[in-house]
Amino acid sequence: MIYVAILGFGVVGSGAAEVLASNRAVIEKNLGKAVTVKRILDLREFPDSPFGHLVTHDFNDILNDPEISVVAEMMGGSHPAYDFTKACLEAGKHVVTSNKEVVARFGAELLEIAAAHGVRYLFEASVGGGIPVIRPMVNDLASNEIERVDGILNGTTNYILTQMIAGATFENALKEAQAKGYAEANPAADVEGLDAARKIVILAALSFGTLLSPDKIHCEGITKLTLADVAVAKKLGCSIKLIGHTERSNGKVLAMVSPRLVPLDNPLSGITDVFNGILVDANMVGKVMFYGAGAGKLPTASAVVADIIDIVAHMESDNVRAPKFTVATDADYADFSAYACRTCVAFENTAGAAEKIAAVFGDVKTVTEGDRIAFISDEMTEKTLTDLIAKTDLTLCSRIRVLG
Ligand code: HSE
Repeated sequence: MIYVAILGFGVVGSGAAEVLASNRAVIEKNLGKAVTVKRILDLREFPDSPFGHLVTHDFNDILNDPEISVVAEMMGGSHPAYDFTKACLEAGKHVVTSNKEVVARFGAELLEIAAAHGVRYLFEASVGGGIPVIRPMVNDLASNEIERVDGILNGTTNYILTQMIAGATFENALKEAQAKGYAEANPAADVEGLDAARKIVILAALSFGTLLSPDKIHCEGITKLTLADVAVAKKLGCSIKLIGHTERSNGKVLAMVSPRLVPLDNPLSGITDVFNGILVDANMVGKVMFYGAGAGKLPTASAVVADIIDIVAHMESDNVRAPKFTVATDADYADFSAYACRTCVAFENTAGAAEKIAAVFGDVKTVTEGDRIAFISDEMTEKTLTDLIAKTDLTLCSRIRVLG
């Protein structure tokens, strides 16, 4: 019997207990061993839960229990989640987590501590909810140099954008996402792009070995997007998605999050609702796409339990693959001002606007929508675009990067 402890009995934590109990038979069949939850750490009581009797309010009940060999951290937030994770690893317990904040901020240190203590720190559920993406990147793409990753990494914002396109208001769509258990405790982390920033930082570290700080990368959310932007995108043959992007150039790593127009021939363009998609471009295999439910109780819990199963399956082996992250120094960050892409620019459609656009931007195809005129620019840096926009002497409505 393998005894597991759960830290944090919220949406994902209770989901993990449910997956382990509901799929007990299949897990035991696949592993040849039974896995059971022994203790659950939470500040609250859960008298109505079938797992309520396992709840403790004292972390030491878990840390000092020699029977508990695997700890699943699903508390959210940096502290005390990081502190408890570190203590468990140092005590020789394996840790799995869905906590992208801890992985993005402390992943390098925690992986090192795990290696030093002969245990594993796995975080499949930290990116893409239930989608298997971390393990395939660590194992199955190991023969490749990863060149870039683009992803829809936040289920809540993708759900909100999908609902808005169908006519819902931002506020109602957000309320629904919260009711479905997709949103973060503070949904500002979703709609302002921070959750996606943490995830792209993790994917950048898996791709390039360098762990950037989510606070130091360019991060824009969806709060400024309007239905007019969505309509313009449609007329230009694109959808709008919140995209995390990372690439390496000249030995430096760029990671960013922002809304993007996604051309309809890009497989990310059709991903709706709570689904996430992660498109990895690698030098031998080419493009590989990972797709599935990016948030929600049971999908995310399924990924947490997959990590527990991986740990149990390899408990007797001292030859398991583990990523190594190096904390980025300032010199590792690519200069964002040098980043170039095509951009959808929308101006107020005042008299002579088309001519003014043509005079500055050349022969671009314009579309009109309501009181707007819009087009997609050639590839250029942010600064060049800002200078050209100023030259038109038109009133800017929006500028949204295009995924290319
Ligand atoms: N709030 C996150 C999302 C949960 O909506 O994607 C999964 O990480």
